[in-house]
Amino acid sequence: MTTEQMKEKLGGMLTDHRYTHSLGVMETAEKMARLFGADVQKAQTAGLLHDCAKQIDRETQLAMCDKLGVPLDDLKRENTALLHAELGARLAETEFAVCDSEILGAIKYHTLGRANMTDLEKILYLADIIEPNRREFEGLKELRALCEKDLNEALLYGLELTIAHIGRKGRILHTQTMEAEAFYRNLLHKEAYHMKPLDAFEKAKKAVKVLDAKKANDIALLKVSDLTILADYFVICSANSTTQVRALADSIEEEFEKVGIIPLSREGKQGLNWILLDYGDFILHIFYQETREFYGLEKLWDDAEKMDVDKIINEL
Ligand SMILES: [Fe+2]
Ligand SMILES: [Fe+2]
Repeated sequence: MTTEQMKEKLGGMLTDHRYTHSLGVMETAEKMARLFGADVQKAQTAGLLHDCAKQIDRETQLAMCDKLGVPLDDLKRENTALLHAELGARLAETEFAVCDSEILGAIKYHTLGRANMTDLEKILYLADIIEPNRREFEGLKELRALCEKDLNEALLYGLELTIAHIGRKGRILHTQTMEAEAFYRNLLHKEAYHMKPLDAFEKAKKAVKVLDAKKANDIALLKVSDLTILADYFVICSANSTTQVRALADSIEEEFEKVGIIPLSREGKQGLNWILLDYGDFILHIFYQETREFYGLEKLWDDAEKMDVDKIINEL
């Protein structure tokens, strides 16, 4: 099959968004192959086809894996995001007539990685994360820079970013990814992660800064870790209208989502006069000004340590 024929067939199997992503991965993989002396044509095919099974629903993916004899462990069975790589490698073979084991291996390991990866596997793993259509996230700029310098360093950093992301989402990390990270950390004699997940105070500070940038009024940050098991910090602020209450909550969700952090819950109380976003280790209360005065939440938590918000806003 020619690349053009593959593109045509793949276009019918994926959404526009996924197809654009696949083209981005193809071009990035191609560039990296050139840079690191890998097979450009193979990188192109692997990049183009890596997500060919992504749009198939979970039940069908499972049935297809069983039919095609793709071995799956429990975690892969439960998580469609992990399933599509295994199945994708088989579909590349059966639907796109790819018989090169290197290309098929790269597709198979593109989500989890593994210890001792081939250069093509590394290139696809990384191209999938850094292709130009990816939304910004913390560490992406640094990873893109490493991808132009050193394949193993980039891979280790890419694995670390993935592990941190999985941790923040509260998902279970697959042993294959753990083994890959340990393998490359040992290989490069690195002792610790480049990147630590944000701790509770860092998250609360980030919330304060986002609220300030979005013109929230009277922002307060209370340390409540010694007083309750609900959270370590409360962030409280006021808005001039219910529209602003909602806009502030949306901005917080958006900014935290960029670094892979999603709230455990979002509750609207009293209509839109009060929105509560629970991020586990910190809770954010956004009040319409009068509602804040009425409930007097800060008086209830009078014993809590009040952090210096101005200092947080002004720090770099
Ligand atoms: Fe994928
Ligand atoms: Fe992908």
